[in-house]
Amino acid sequence: MADTLTITDNRTGKQYDLPIKDGFIKATDLKQIKTETDDAGLATYDPAFMNTASCRSRITFIDGDKGILEYRGYPIEQLAEHSTFLETAYLIIFGELPTQAQLVEWTNQITFHTMLHENIKKLMEGFQYDAHPMGVFLSTVGACSAFYPDAKNIFDEQSRRKQTQRLIAKVPTIAAYAYRHSIGRPYNNPDNDLSFTGNFLNMLFRMTELKYKANPVLERALEVLFILHADHEQNCSTSAMRGIGSSHVDPYSAMAGAAAALYGPLHGGANEAVLRMLTEIGSVDNIPGFIKRVKMGEGRLMGFGHRVYKSYDPRAKIIKQTADAVFEVTGKNPLLDIALELERIALQDEYFVTRKLYPNVDFYSGLIYQAMGFPVAMFPVLFAIPRTAGWIAQWEEMLLDPEQKIARPKQVYIGSARRDYVSRDQRG
Ligand SMILES: CC(C)(COP(=O)(O)OP(=O)(O)OC[C@H]1O[C@@H](n2cnc3c(N)ncnc32)[C@H](O)[C@@H]1OP(=O)(O)O)[C@@H](O)C(=O)NCCC(=O)NCCS
Repeated sequence: MADTLTITDNRTGKQYDLPIKDGFIKATDLKQIKTETDDAGLATYDPAFMNTASCRSRITFIDGDKGILEYRGYPIEQLAEHSTFLETAYLIIFGELPTQAQLVEWTNQITFHTMLHENIKKLMEGFQYDAHPMGVFLSTVGACSAFYPDAKNIFDEQSRRKQTQRLIAKVPTIAAYAYRHSIGRPYNNPDNDLSFTGNFLNMLFRMTELKYKANPVLERALEVLFILHADHEQNCSTSAMRGIGSSHVDPYSAMAGAAAALYGPLHGGANEAVLRMLTEIGSVDNIPGFIKRVKMGEGRLMGFGHRVYKSYDPRAKIIKQTADAVFEVTGKNPLLDIALELERIALQDEYFVTRKLYPNVDFYSGLIYQAMGFPVAMFPVLFAIPRTAGWIAQWEEMLLDPEQKIARPKQVYIGSARRDYVSRDQRG
């Protein structure tokens, strides 16, 4: 017998059998449950989409209770150990790991598109010196929509491929220029001899040397961090990408919106918030007082808790190992002791244990980025670069899914009933 859910409507005494597929019922199947023939039918109320799937996806699998994260079926731990960011991006976007020939071609295509149009550079130069790099980043990504009008052809596969290559290739350049702009240094051109992360570090940190060579441990650490951040199914920014993209706007415009969602402190801004929190705590002695304030509802323990993971975030485990490798090169980040002690206390504290609050990906990533020489304001930008792969893959999946339409949630209207306009002179 097929899986069904039988609902009895006590208002009418009628029974309904709703099909269950993959563990879900279709919300629109509830519409048939009515008391009057002309009523709109039953709907669900689900603020923040706590229990609603908005799509069927083949890209990323998460089991939050078990702490599992897989891209296209491959466990994140294996990808972090063996893959590169570009290979993982290919996997996420195209669904399979590339053959060696495909990887060479993909790498060449990305390398070919790393430069920015001179006018995009001029646009970036127009920002104030103290503009937040994430604000510069998302504005510039949005501006690319005007530079690449062919991106409007979203149902042309060739065009989508082109924008995909441009986006993956150009986001590190945009990010690096946003950073160089903020410190008043000239922009460094991309160096196509270098790896994806090696080139990014070159554009960020090269000074007068003719050839920049990143420390291989740091280059690899960044690669691992990029792999960990490449996709995370239907999070806030990805939902924004899909939601905006569902209006059939070009991918640059949609991605500017996704990047804006990522900017917020509850999402991609969290690692920035973690560092500010650790700096504010200042010393291990101040931790008990800080935890007490959090438990009293005066602020949150940033980098803890996750909408999906209700056990240790698998990415946080990998990041902790990466942190050890990085600190061997850079020296220990002085805030690490505070972070470790905070984690130790929180993991034993009844408040955090009962609410299943564990360190998330952002708890340690900020410490690594800071040790590598990145200013705190660059953290969300460092998240946006790899997440571009996920945003594109999710956007394309949404576009090609015949079940998708323009995103348009319902509301429960709780405002005034109909009333007549009162003229201004009668309103006092
Ligand atoms: C990530 C986050 C937004 C998820 O939120 P959510 O799934 O909506 O969970 P809720 O806000 O409903 O929290 C559930 C409970 O845990 C508490 N809680 C959640 N995260 C907390 C945190 N970081 N510190 C202290 N308490 C926290 C809430 O106050 C709430 O307690 P209550 O039931 O007594 O009211 C949230 O955990 C958070 O704000 N974390 C800090 C920011 C962060 O690190 N974000 C990065 C995510 S990758």
